[in-house]
Amino acid sequence: MSLKVLVIGSEGQIGTELCLELEKRDDVVLYRADIRILTNSERRLYRLDATDQRGIKQLISDLQIDEVYLMAALLSAKGEENPKLAWDLNMNSLLHLLDLAKEGFYKKLFWPSSIAVFGPDSPKVNTPQNTTINPSTVYGISKRSGEFWCDYYFNKYGVDVRSIRYPGLISHATEPGGGTTDYSVAIVKEALKIGNYTSYLKGDTILPMLFMPDAIKATLALMDAPKDSITIRTSYNLGGFETSPELMAHSIRRFIPSFEISYSIDFRQEIADSWPQSINDENAIADWRFEVEYDLDQTVEAMIEALK
Ligand code: SER
Repeated sequence: MSLKVLVIGSEGQIGTELCLELEKRDDVVLYRADIRILTNSERRLYRLDATDQRGIKQLISDLQIDEVYLMAALLSAKGEENPKLAWDLNMNSLLHLLDLAKEGFYKKLFWPSSIAVFGPDSPKVNTPQNTTINPSTVYGISKRSGEFWCDYYFNKYGVDVRSIRYPGLISHATEPGGGTTDYSVAIVKEALKIGNYTSYLKGDTILPMLFMPDAIKATLALMDAPKDSITIRTSYNLGGFETSPELMAHSIRRFIPSFEISYSIDFRQEIADSWPQSINDENAIADWRFEVEYDLDQTVEAMIEALK
């Protein structure tokens, strides 16, 4: 029997590559929804605003969807510029989808959280799953609140919702949408295009990152895992590798020796400084066998290869 899967935010940084993987599955019928596309039901594309609650309900019920990936969100940097919109989009879309699952409109939900849930007083290195968590951005506040709602709907109503706290995600297919970690994509693109990059984060700012293929593999592993192996219903810590603008520049110079980096620090520095440098993801490893394939150098090499 085939599984009807709806990806909301299908044209975004994660959605694009998630859809490519889901499409490869014989047992999946994939439906894409995004505010950036026009409806073409023959191609299973639907124009959808993730804050349009009636539209979402209608689509899920018309298509008889089994699983939803809710990937539409406003990220950390854009969120600080528009806090109310960030809250509205990130939180109300989640609450609505949790309600629809509770009411039996579909069976299983994936919702992304982020390292942004951690705040300045969280441990910076090997940050545990459960620790001091006081987010300082509106994005982080929305993600932390969403995690509690996921856990609540699971415990109270048995909603099968699963979530990952993604670190910064590096990818080449689609631009990231206004996050603090976006430099890690821009630096490779600019290196290839003009041979230099001006970073808005200080050179030694270390953050955890993950190459998109690893992030997608993790997401699908979590969604494929048997229900009783999922021990965390807020959101799973997920690491990857630690990097900084300086370390990335160093890695890029293996291919472009003349690459130069300069700095013009902005408000995103404060956000980055409030986040962990590395993540303890032992629960993801134990519960659904998360494994990182790409380290920093392999990621940079794969990015350059794909972009040139
Ligand atoms: N990549 C995101 C951001 O920078 C973190 O989840 O906002």
